[in-house]
Amino acid sequence: MDLMEAIKGRRSIRKYKAEPVSEEAVQKVIEAVRWSPSWANTQCWEVILVRDPNVKSELANTLTPTNPSRSSMTEAPLVVVLCGKKGISGFKKGETATVKGDWLMFDTGIAMQSLCLAAYGLGLGTVVVGLFNHKKAEEILGLPVNVEVVAMTPLGYPAARGDAPKRKEVSDFVFYEKYPVRK
Ligand SMILES: Cc1cc2nc3c(=O)[nH]c(=O)nc-3n(C[C@H](O)[C@H](O)[C@H](O)COP(=O)(O)O)c2cc1C
Repeated sequence: MDLMEAIKGRRSIRKYKAEPVSEEAVQKVIEAVRWSPSWANTQCWEVILVRDPNVKSELANTLTPTNPSRSSMTEAPLVVVLCGKKGISGFKKGETATVKGDWLMFDTGIAMQSLCLAAYGLGLGTVVVGLFNHKKAEEILGLPVNVEVVAMTPLGYPAARGDAPKRKEVSDFVFYEKYPVRK
């Protein structure tokens, strides 16, 4: 698949078939996380694959009732939870190397995009879920204090696909040489 087609064609999928996802396909998607770039190659991500319907349901309950992806969490055969180990990305000798602090969100964000694109290339659907009770999800999954849940995605075969939400025009966010002075 052409890379630009993949970047533009991937959509958030919120309706899934019950059809299982092969272990081979899951491993390919995980491989995309593995080869993502990260701060000084620190690879702070950790991934939890959830197939147990009870655990999926518990995780679904951490989403607000109005989150449009709530039912996707139990519909899809698999939920991928992307976690980050704290105090690694963006750190040098235990100290933050930049004013940005922990780069965990950045690195796991890239990894999530790799995962979503790889899944799309395999005909699988994903939707990044970020709006949920992270503390509750961490309790459900039994995370240690040095690891946090960042985002999750259902993973499965799409049952429906929505239209692409409108994007800003390039001229709305690309500037040349310096930030424009706006009056
Ligand atoms: C960090 C992040 C958090 C998101 N959280 C949610 C969410 O909680 N629920 C949901 O339905 N979609 C969520 N989305 C999906 C966005 O709504 C979606 O990517 C955006 O509307 C663009 O649509 P597209 O992915 O089809 O291009 C999230 C996306 C990102 C990147």
